[in-house]
Amino acid sequence: MACKLSAIVAVSDDWGIGYEGDMIVSNRADMKHFVSCTTGHPVIMGRKTLDSFPGGRPLKNRRNIVLTRDEHFAREGVEVVHSVDEARAAVADEDEAWVIGGEEVYRQFLPYCAQAVVTKNHCLRLADTHFPNLDEDETGDWFVFEESEPARIGEDEEDSGIEYRFVTYRRRSMADLFASQVDEQDEEESAAEPVHIRTMILYRSKHHGNTKRIVDAITAAFPDDVDTLDVSTVDKKNPKVDLTSYHLIGIASGIYFGEIDRDLARVMQASVRSGDFVFSLLTYGGASKWYGKDIDGICRATHANFLAGHGCPGFDTWGPYKLMGGMNKGRPNDDDIADMVAWYGQLVEGYGKPLINEYEKRLRRAAWDAAHPDPTMMDKLKNTGRHLFGRKKK
Ligand SMILES: NC(=O)c1ccc[n+]([C@@H]2O[C@H](COP(=O)([O-])OP(=O)(O)OC[C@H]3O[C@@H](n4cnc5c(N)ncnc54)[C@H](OP(=O)(O)O)[C@@H]3O)[C@@H](O)[C@H]2O)c1
Ligand SMILES: Cc1cc2nc3c(=O)[nH]c(=O)nc-3n(C[C@H](O)[C@H](O)[C@H](O)COP(=O)(O)O)c2cc1C
Repeated sequence: MACKLSAIVAVSDDWGIGYEGDMIVSNRADMKHFVSCTTGHPVIMGRKTLDSFPGGRPLKNRRNIVLTRDEHFAREGVEVVHSVDEARAAVADEDEAWVIGGEEVYRQFLPYCAQAVVTKNHCLRLADTHFPNLDEDETGDWFVFEESEPARIGEDEEDSGIEYRFVTYRRRSMADLFASQVDEQDEEESAAEPVHIRTMILYRSKHHGNTKRIVDAITAAFPDDVDTLDVSTVDKKNPKVDLTSYHLIGIASGIYFGEIDRDLARVMQASVRSGDFVFSLLTYGGASKWYGKDIDGICRATHANFLAGHGCPGFDTWGPYKLMGGMNKGRPNDDDIADMVAWYGQLVEGYGKPLINEYEKRLRRAAWDAAHPDPTMMDKLKNTGRHLFGRKKK
């Protein structure tokens, strides 16, 4: 089984990470976040980062794998390696390992990382080391998967008042995230034959038809794979839609007073099931807003997986939102639409076979469950009996 590699880093606004061997922002909440992400997993770091820890000592409750070119280097509690390959081999049997810096090490390991967990400290500081700027990543590989609400560094801290947020970036080519399910043979097969992902896009395009134009363009580009449903046609009293035959569910909407369309949210809530894979396509007026929260929230509540979201900003033809920073591009133009279609294409190409494997696994599980009554049923009945008749378990 391949080990999933993740990078974890704290950056300032220009993606600075360190100065003269130290971190540039001190943020206790970030430290806690770092500990909770990495504890129990191996951490991979450069010798200089190890030296930046108090007393140059390794981190507790984690395998500390340290890169150095010095053949004689040794330190208590540290596994010393001398190359990227050696470090990767050292964690090959682990489920997950974290690359924790610094710059030299991040740059070499990023191509092997499936995700980067970035604490964005909203400030500018003198820095001599940086993390690659994933917002301006030229490969187009990285996208924002999840972003926390902003918070501020506590009042009793050195850097009090600085706003920060936790942002998780993932690779569009997600096969490595599913590494545990995909063996090399599968990967070869998926490269050889095009993969058809059956997608249902549930959408509402209430005002200007902006969202509909994008949804229609995706359907036209993938006519065999994509179905769409305008949720305004769904019975309000019975908003459940059967999505069982789809590998992937899209939720597409304009943003109206800060929310996705209410009917769409209701249909989504009633129809998306545990284990479904969901993505979102949103059009809105504000220039760079994060409106995926409703969809993420419904996914969490229904135990579905929110894979990724794409926002198409700047389509504001309505006064108040124009005044509040909307760019008033009016309607999506051909480039905007092509961008959305390309994004969807990358999403299904990236997830490809693993998405189908996951879907088939769920079908097999459902068939097994149907054929095998719940083995814990007798215990549950006995417990219900005890409860009804007031008897205590001995
Ligand atoms: N903000 C954050 O989240 C964060 C996280 C970590 C670190 N930092 C900061 O980053 C700075 C350190 O970064 P850095 O880029 O200067 O150093 P670094 O990446 O921590 O360490 C570089 C050292 O690692 C070893 N090394 C790197 N690649 C190697 C390879 N392929 N094979 C063998 N050894 C290899 C070498 O050690 P030898 O010299 O011993 O040969 C090299 O000098 C510090 O200021 C630290 O505070 C910030
Ligand atoms: C009544 C109304 C409310 C809106 N509220 C917001 C908003 O809160 N934030 C925003 O960024 N855009 C807002 N917009 C802009 C729309 O989200 C944007 O025009 C979107 O592309 C509309 O999609 P549609 O044409 O598919 O309905 C609003 C537009 C209207 C007409």
